[in-house]
Amino acid sequence: MKLAKRVNKLPPYLFVEINQKIAELRAGGEDIISFAIGDPDFPTPSHIIEHMCQAAHNPANHRYPETAGLPELRQAIAEWYERRFGVTLNSSKEVLPLIGSKEGIAHIALCFIEPGDLALVPNPGYPPYSLGTILAGGKPYFMPLKEENDFLPDFEAIPDKVASKAKLMWLNYPNNPTGAIASLDFFEQAIQFARKHNLIICHDAAYTEVTFDGYTAPSFLQVSGAKEIGVEFHSLSKTYNMTGWRIGMVVGNADVIRALFQVKSNLDSGVPQAIQYAAVEALRSSWEHIAERNAILQQRRDRLIKVLNEIGLKARIPKATFYIWAKVPAGYTSIDFAKKLLDEAKIVVTPGIGYGKEGEGHVRFSLTISDNHLEQGIGRLLAWHRRRR
Ligand SMILES: Cc1ncc(COP(=O)(O)O)c(C=O)c1O
Repeated sequence: MKLAKRVNKLPPYLFVEINQKIAELRAGGEDIISFAIGDPDFPTPSHIIEHMCQAAHNPANHRYPETAGLPELRQAIAEWYERRFGVTLNSSKEVLPLIGSKEGIAHIALCFIEPGDLALVPNPGYPPYSLGTILAGGKPYFMPLKEENDFLPDFEAIPDKVASKAKLMWLNYPNNPTGAIASLDFFEQAIQFARKHNLIICHDAAYTEVTFDGYTAPSFLQVSGAKEIGVEFHSLSKTYNMTGWRIGMVVGNADVIRALFQVKSNLDSGVPQAIQYAAVEALRSSWEHIAERNAILQQRRDRLIKVLNEIGLKARIPKATFYIWAKVPAGYTSIDFAKKLLDEAKIVVTPGIGYGKEGEGHVRFSLTISDNHLEQGIGRLLAWHRRRR
């Protein structure tokens, strides 16, 4: 069978490989603790599930949904943006539900990237930004996120001839995998750069609700003029522990949203309606459970980061996301070091190279494991460190 070139160009999806490896080891009787995957270990709040169950019993929801989503959901998304960020959205033109934000993130390149076009993509970065670009026939141009720049891209370092060939610029704050945050001033600079080079900004805001120490993450759309320049992707996955239900949204520039709707209406048939009703309930609920969940994640963060710094895996304290981006000891690549931790401590972490070249030298720890497993994992790390000395 001869695969299309575009498929051959795609690397294997990092987490598929990691999950396969974990499954193989567990099937072989190994007791593995995984810090690898960013998937909340908390259940979806029960009032959200109740709404989904009620909606699932209604035959009106057993039929094809519309790609545009239920008007009630689009309205709930617009109200959430107003309540959370003070951003006003037109729910019929500036809001589109997605089958999880990954789906929209990967598809939007099809709307704007012609073969040979560039997309500016953060590196390290969430893989679908570049994979979507490649599938559309374009090429990612990587913007390095360096620690000395607080993991923000340096727009001045992007050559004019690159910027003029680029159609999209991807940003993601709070950031996966570095845990970095961005200010409204930074978004302002990004907008100026995008305006100068006629770029569309796609801001991935999946982690704005996973924050610590009283920090509140902004939306890119809070900056005046943002809606003329781009869109923001958000998701109920991390915000409401709903990774299993697959629902997200893109909001902002009406022309960009219309283009994505055009592609999506030809590719998919929308989000199952019972899940849309669950999302309406989630978006209209209080912030209480988010605060409680974040308090637990913050305790886990503090517990793990102290140990990592003690054993020489230096890491900054993230103000947001459930990731810790730790430096690997000198002399190891991120893959070698991840293998070493797996072989010698039975712990899985994600090698930084999986997020791009600039991720080399780091591994990512996710805090989405139970407190009990976290303690066991920490015990293994400490024992492993003692054995090495
Ligand atoms: C930065 C970032 N964006 C988007 C997503 C996708 O989330 P979902 O497709 O579940 O909405 C993830 C998931 O890990 C992520 O880390």
